[in-house]
Parts: sequence; C-alpha cells; structure tokens
Amino acid sequence: MEKIKEGSVDIIVKKGDITEEEVDIIVNAANNRLLGGGGVDGAIHRAAGPSMMSECRKIGYCPTGEAVYTTAGNLKAKYCIHTVGPIWQGGFKNEEKLLSNCYINSLKLANKLNASSIAFPAISCGVYGYPIEEAANIAINSIKKFLRTYPNNLKEIRLVLFNDTTYNAFYRALKA
Ligand code: APR
Repeated sequence: MEKIKEGSVDIIVKKGDITEEEVDIIVNAANNRLLGGGGVDGAIHRAAGPSMMSECRKIGYCPTGEAVYTTAGNLKAKYCIHTVGPIWQGGFKNEEKLLSNCYINSLKLANKLNASSIAFPAISCGVYGYPIEEAANIAINSIKKFLRTYPNNLKEIRLVLFNDTTYNAFYRALKA
C-alpha cells in the first residue's frame, strides 16, 4: 500500500480485490451496453447480486469515457459507478483522452453523489489491452488534475490493483 496527499485528499494505491473495499463508491470497468462480462465487471456483478444488473439494463448504454451509476447491491458501498474504458487500438484512436475521461467523469459523478471515498480498478488494463504503464500514468495524472480543477468533498481515492504487474505500475506512477 502506498499513499500520497493531493491537497487534503489521500490518493492510495493498494493490491486487492475491489469487491471487498469499504468505500462510498466502487467503480466498475464496464462495456458500452452495461451487460456485465468477465474480469472486474464479472466480479462486481457476482458480489453485488442481481439488483445491479437490472438497474444496468434500465440504463442500457454508456458511451466510452462516460460514467453512469447504480446502487451497489451487496457490496460494502453506497453506489457503483460504471465507466467504459477505451479498447486499446495502438494509441491513435483517442484512447488517452477517453481513458482520462473515465477517471474525471467518475470523480465528477462521485462528487455529485456526495461521496467521500471511492475505489477504482485499473480501467482498460485487462481485456481492453491498454499498456499498463501508460494507463497508470493517465489514471494518476487525471485524478490529480480533477483534484486541482474541481471543488469536491472527497477525502480518499483508492486504486485497487489485482496483480503485481498492475500494482507496480500504479505505484511507480503515484511516486513519479
Ligand atoms: N478487483 C480489482 N481488479 C480486478 C478484479 C477485482 N476483483 N478482477 C480483475 N481485475 C483487474 C484486472 O486484472 C485488470 O487489471 O481489473 C483490470 C481491468 O481488467 P478488465 O476487468 O478486463 O477490464 P477492461 O480491460 O476495462 O475491459 C472491460 O471486460 O469484463 C469485461 O464487461 C467488461 O467488456 C468489458 C471489458
């Protein structure tokens, strides 16, 4: 676990399973149709139970880089924010901006929901194939940019990484 302070907000990088985090908001790395899937999306829906999927079906669609929210079912959180990361296509399809938007739009929504704590997974770093070092830098820089740009009531932003490779990349980005 590693922590820095940006203003009055703690940014924490830790290894773990995001479905076990006790925070106001858990962020899901979803797909455009919010249909569930494997990876962290599958794990979050399994842990939350069926109510989350029925809310996702009602919402129906989320554009890449945007964020929507549902209640969090059986998770130890008030809400789940579903954001859709870009599929890596070589870096020439606006992937960097879209991935940054995922973090910024999720944080804006979290603030609207009056959250004081939020946990993110490594969006796009699994089946969507984003190079992990780059994704880690975009995540940390976007979070810092959000905190410097938008007034907010957040106290803690956690990045919860599932394996050593991802944890090490996010650790380096946090310390850079
Ligand atoms: N907790 C935290 N992180 C997890 C967990 C978990 N329980 N399970 C997987 N991860 C990690 C993966 O190791 C990876 O680093 O989440 C990161 C994101 O990987 P994916 O879940 O594959 O997400 P992404 O690359 O954004 O692809 C999204 O995958 O599951 C589908 O429906 C989803 O189609 C969408 C796509």
